[in-house]
Amino acid sequence: MKPEIKIFSGPKEVAQQFAIFLADFVLTREKITIALSGGSTPKLLFDHLASHYSKSMDWAKMHFFWGDERCLPPDHSESNYKMTSDHLLSKIEIPDENIHRIKGEMEPQSEADRYAAEINDHLVDENNLPRFDLIILGMGEDGHTASIFPHQMHLLKSENIYEVSTHPESGQKRITLTGKVINNAAQVVFLVTGKSKAEKMFEILEQQGRWKDYPATYIQPHNGNLIWFLDRTAAGKLDNFF
Ligand code: 6PG
Repeated sequence: MKPEIKIFSGPKEVAQQFAIFLADFVLTREKITIALSGGSTPKLLFDHLASHYSKSMDWAKMHFFWGDERCLPPDHSESNYKMTSDHLLSKIEIPDENIHRIKGEMEPQSEADRYAAEINDHLVDENNLPRFDLIILGMGEDGHTASIFPHQMHLLKSENIYEVSTHPESGQKRITLTGKVINNAAQVVFLVTGKSKAEKMFEILEQQGRWKDYPATYIQPHNGNLIWFLDRTAAGKLDNFF
């Protein structure tokens, strides 16, 4: 099934439009389980949500999880939890028990197992896998998504809910959601901005070049609910979508 592709003028508009999408998504549901990601566009999104939706969104309905985390303490400048906390969580009223962070300071493999159990406790089960209501993803310049990098394609097919992965350049350990659970979500959204992503976006969405080598290619939720929110520069090489 072809994904839906939405193209906006720049990263700020991507954040604004996704916030509108999220507000609608929240309205129609009682309890929402959301997996967040790190990256530059989510940071803009969190700032926008904090400044425009802190009072109007029903945050108590939302349970935040993370699709990936760097194996670092929660106050480290590279922690995805810290970024979310600084830009969003500290600025909204949300019960502490709705925030389910990956403990990046713990031993990675045992934390991946512990967090998988936490996910099983909170999420509904569908197709014998936990089902997130919404997973927000970014895509790296190498075609990675969450923390599934091109040299770790096996993580797309892992039977585990979370796995330990390694950043190919820095060697930094990460804990990442695996492909089967991502594809079991009710809704997956990619937020991708910037010219440096244009070539990979073209390859992935038009099935050209080395598209089969990129983890992001394999994110195709079973129910077909996949939306790419792109800015004009990331979408700059997509001939077939204009
Ligand atoms: C992370 C991620 C990662 C990110 C992409 C895109 O924690 O690093 O979750 O998958 O989303 O690398 O990041 P940018 O939006 O900053 O390019």
